[in-house]
Amino acid sequence: MARFSKLFLVVMFSLSTCSYYKSTNTTFTSLGYSDADIAYLRSIYQNDLNLIIEHQINRNDLFTYLKIDKLTIEEIIKSEEIRKKENISHLAALNLLHHPYIMKEFYKYPQPALNKDSYLILVNKNYYLDENYIPSDLVFAEGAYQLIDDESRYYLRKAAYEAYLELQQDARKQGLYLYLSNGYRSYQKQTKLYNDYLLNGNEPDHYSARPGFSEHQTGLALDITCAANNFLLTEDFANTLEGKFVHENAHKYGFIIRYPKDKEHLTGYMYEPWHLRYVGIEHAKIIYEQNITLEEYLINYTYIKKQ
Ligand code: DAL
Ligand code: ZN
Repeated sequence: MARFSKLFLVVMFSLSTCSYYKSTNTTFTSLGYSDADIAYLRSIYQNDLNLIIEHQINRNDLFTYLKIDKLTIEEIIKSEEIRKKENISHLAALNLLHHPYIMKEFYKYPQPALNKDSYLILVNKNYYLDENYIPSDLVFAEGAYQLIDDESRYYLRKAAYEAYLELQQDARKQGLYLYLSNGYRSYQKQTKLYNDYLLNGNEPDHYSARPGFSEHQTGLALDITCAANNFLLTEDFANTLEGKFVHENAHKYGFIIRYPKDKEHLTGYMYEPWHLRYVGIEHAKIIYEQNITLEEYLINYTYIKKQ
């Protein structure tokens, strides 16, 4: 009897083990994985591998993520949840997983600026520069402005300055005269500006950045105006010939209209047809053609590493 029970147990155990592996293999197979895939993934994820089945992650989806970066299973599972819920790409889902507040809940979760060493640097209402940040290659924007009341307004990073001169020269060939009104602005100057608005009883958040959160501190942002708009920075600039020229051509020189019309919910700022941001021609072209913001571009077209 004792021998019979033992045998019974062994047989039962073997059967159940066998069916466990069978069902596991079947599930992996049904999700598109080969034996070689499983061996490879087991070498990376060890025991976490079963989570792939638990969360029904398809082979194609998993390898699409792994082409972007080395990721944990947990990151992949969470990205998949976001991707399916939002109906977006794998890349966008992963970016939103790592940077969920990139274009919402302004000033709630401040983070250091993204892409700090690139022309795709992101400074917005959640990503800031510290008070000591000064770009290393600022140049005085000779020939770019007309009114000298405060020379400190006319500094730009070299690439932005050179691109702007070309834009300005090509505009001039069509009889249009563009003027730089503000370029680089220090943290201290932004503090004064913002505080002055407050002292005057305004609620400046929809048109002025708080200190550290202004793109002007990057040296890649320019405010442009013209005589037809009385050298003012107002929405009417968009209706001048100069404003129209800028709108249609700035991307060819590497600039984007940083705060476009009807994108206030994403940027946090009202339409600023005068505020250009240098990002480089390749990126500016896509942003212009797709009619998207820098934030949307970074999420949908680039991989923004976790920081
Ligand atoms: N006017 C823009 C948003 C700034 O203050 O940086
Ligand atoms: Zn500006």
